Amino acid sequence: HVAVVMDGNRRYGRRHHQGNAIKGHWAGGKALSDFIKWCRLAGGIDFLTVYAFSEENWSRPPAEVDALMSLFTQYADDTLRKEALESNVRVKMLSTDSERLPRSVLKAMAELETATAGCSGLTVNVCLSYGSRSEIVAAAKALATEAQAGRLAPEDITEDLFSRNLTTWSSSHEAEKEAKVGGGSPTSSGKTNSSSCDPDILIRTSGEHRISNFLLWQVRTTLTTFWLCLLLLTCFSFMRVWCVSCRRPMPACVHGDIFHRQTLAGNHRARPARHSWAVCTATAAVW
Ligand code: IPE
Ligand code: MG
Repeated sequence: HVAVVMDGNRRYGRRHHQGNAIKGHWAGGKALSDFIKWCRLAGGIDFLTVYAFSEENWSRPPAEVDALMSLFTQYADDTLRKEALESNVRVKMLSTDSERLPRSVLKAMAELETATAGCSGLTVNVCLSYGSRSEIVAAAKALATEAQAGRLAPEDITEDLFSRNLTTWSSSHEAEKEAKVGGGSPTSSGKTNSSSCDPDILIRTSGEHRISNFLLWQVRTTLTTFWLCLLLLTCFSFMRVWCVSCRRPMPACVHGDIFHRQTLAGNHRARPARHSWAVCTATAAVW
């Protein structure tokens, strides 16, 4: 499970699109498409959770919020839908305050969820109007309601049960939703474990290190440090070399320089292949 805080888009737009920050958001969408392709190609990744719009983002200037909402609608209706169906990718929307989203976004995302419901290659959770604290409070409220109704004893509340009431758990365990509190046995987790829906790695594309109210409960053991960047840099570098030597087409995020440019939006710029060997050698030496 890979989690990504999409960040640095406006900076990218200002820098590469004559000061147009909104174009940076579109470039971020393109970079997300590339990253989804990379996840499919890399294999072994079952879930990708991207933080596209936080509850805090509602306080941005109305013109920017409107532009983002129309981007989400168009992206869900068009690019993401086409690519998800082509690549067998299931898309889910995770939201803790969906009432604030315009109807156009809700409709586009609901249609996308339905259209991709049967896809099994990779699940992409798009967090829109999401806030981790709200998510935790909602889980606490659900448990408290059950306890108040006498259906749950306070001593039966465990970390595992708490996780089951978070949005990420529902998305990862569609078929087992009934095992959430309020239905089924809260303590019998079957073959699943709540930690299976926690991210293994968290990437923030701008190079900053803030978590910004994203998956606060779920990132307990997630790898987020310099070592992760080094690991991914190594993987990308070896993939580049492999693609060049085998004359295979390179996915954009492999020939790109997301770590060099420190923004997901910047990942489509190719760099000379000869640098790859140097990066491979240097990262292997550090390891
Ligand atoms: C992330 O990029 C995209 C959204 C939050 C929607 P930003 O818009 O935060 O870009 P910067 O960090 O200000 O450059
Ligand atoms: Mg930002």
